[in-house]
Amino acid sequence: MPTLEQRINDCLVPVFHVLESGSDPVLRPSEHADFQVNGVMGLAKRLGVKPREVAERIVNEVDFAGLIETVEIAGPGFLNLTVSERAFVEQLEMIASDEHLGVPNATAPEVVVVDYSAPNVAKEMHVGHLRSTVIGDSLCRMLEFTGNRVIRRNHIGDWGTPFGMLIEHLIDQGEDAAVANLSMGDLDGFYREARTKFDADDVFRDRSRQRVVLLQGGDAETLRLWGILVQESIQYFGAVYQELGITLSEADVVGESSYNDMLDDVVADLDAKGLLVDSDGALCVFPEGFVNRDGEPLPVIVRKSDEGYGYAATDLAAIRDRVSNLSADRLLYVVGSPQAQHFAMCFAVATMAGWLNDQVVAEHVAFGNVLGPDRKMFKTREGGTVKLKVLLDEGSERARAALAERASNDGDRDHIAHQLAMGAIKYADLSTDRQRDYVFDWDRMLAFEGDTGPYLQYAHARICSIFRRGDDLPVGGPIILGEPAERALALQLTGFADAVASALDVLSPAKLCTYLFELAQSFTSFYESCPVLKAPDRTIMASRLTLCRLTASTLQVGLDLLGIEAPEQM
Ligand code: ARG
Repeated sequence: MPTLEQRINDCLVPVFHVLESGSDPVLRPSEHADFQVNGVMGLAKRLGVKPREVAERIVNEVDFAGLIETVEIAGPGFLNLTVSERAFVEQLEMIASDEHLGVPNATAPEVVVVDYSAPNVAKEMHVGHLRSTVIGDSLCRMLEFTGNRVIRRNHIGDWGTPFGMLIEHLIDQGEDAAVANLSMGDLDGFYREARTKFDADDVFRDRSRQRVVLLQGGDAETLRLWGILVQESIQYFGAVYQELGITLSEADVVGESSYNDMLDDVVADLDAKGLLVDSDGALCVFPEGFVNRDGEPLPVIVRKSDEGYGYAATDLAAIRDRVSNLSADRLLYVVGSPQAQHFAMCFAVATMAGWLNDQVVAEHVAFGNVLGPDRKMFKTREGGTVKLKVLLDEGSERARAALAERASNDGDRDHIAHQLAMGAIKYADLSTDRQRDYVFDWDRMLAFEGDTGPYLQYAHARICSIFRRGDDLPVGGPIILGEPAERALALQLTGFADAVASALDVLSPAKLCTYLFELAQSFTSFYESCPVLKAPDRTIMASRLTLCRLTASTLQVGLDLLGIEAPEQM
């Protein structure tokens, strides 16, 4: 189903093409009208004609088929378009009857592998993982909603030399005690204890090193012990996902270790393509354009001189696997900005090897930091990692207190408090342009006013309550847009598809957040100036109820694409 913007665009395109083949109108939302056509000036310049003349020709020749009420030529050649009531009504009716609220499927649906969350075994998930998890999950939801096939990959850090000391520490503690500690979610404590022994105790250090050799050699007992660490961690991560409402499942966990068997093939393939350079016994690829501060070329180390493999090799194997075995068209990596160079270099090597090309692209979906109130990296007072689980629980606690202050709510308070807290945390994260840092601030994110999760959830719940208040409410009938606030709401409602499209375009859920916030604001203005249950007559009441219902659905579906629940009462 085309969006209103597309329908208007389709009317303009033939006229533009007659004037110059291949030229296109550029349609934008406008402050002066509903839409503004911006492509006229560029076209006039290329034709060597005065913009106003071109604008007049377009106005004379275009057939808007009743979609546009008035066209105004403004300034040096902008066209300001006001949509007709009939067009709004038609569009809203189409949206209301569509399960996807008018959001079209991708014209060429893709297989998209989304690499996100990816915490490390036996280490606490920190706020950086929160960002990856929340942003990644929202992107998966939007991609699926628009008809793409999404394959989630939770690339957990489950391999490497630290596992020597972790396994030895597990043995020292005794399996049962270790499992008990880990299942309580004290991952960092466990890691720290192992590290302390490793640094202080020569015997322990030796044991740890031998254990790494056993692990890499595939010793069965060692792998069993390693498996305990991995399994306990996965379970803990799963509990966090469950609490946060994340769509990742255990089946999506394909950790670093899963690629072990593919690493030799990566070397063989790169070697066959003549890309490997021996650098002091290490096998490296030097992709063009990457140099250190002294201008020397930087390597991607594929195999270390001790024949071991590292983080980069694993990512190369993962790219190869995702492209050839999963038939991906597109690879997304939702990982913090500090890893930008790592991914740029891996992608460059993968392109040299022909795994990535014009048809199969990889993108690093980078994001900024979460800061504490002091605007430094968000840490505990002692300078440690903020435990995600503790943070989520604190959120629920605070939301419960916030709800208690509001007299009006009934329903299952604990459940609603939980929905509110998760919504607040997720929305604060998602509504910041992902490249930027943001300050983790409970008071701001939990506020019922302003650009927050609770504000949007509350707007939705308030609409739901309208429907609970009347028993004999009229349904159906025509939509009538008599009041400016009704018209403004209609315009906003028709923009949902474009909001989803633009969020996907830049892979930033913040675009959708902005849209939903504006929708809630338009609704508030409408609700203040247009009585619904006290409408002048039943026809207008029915029309307004339809606008209410459509707003509620759009908020609910939109929030769901952000991974945020929309309770019906608060
Ligand atoms: N485990 C890594 C970390 O905590 C993130 C992994 C991201 N994904 C990847 N394919 N490298 O920083």
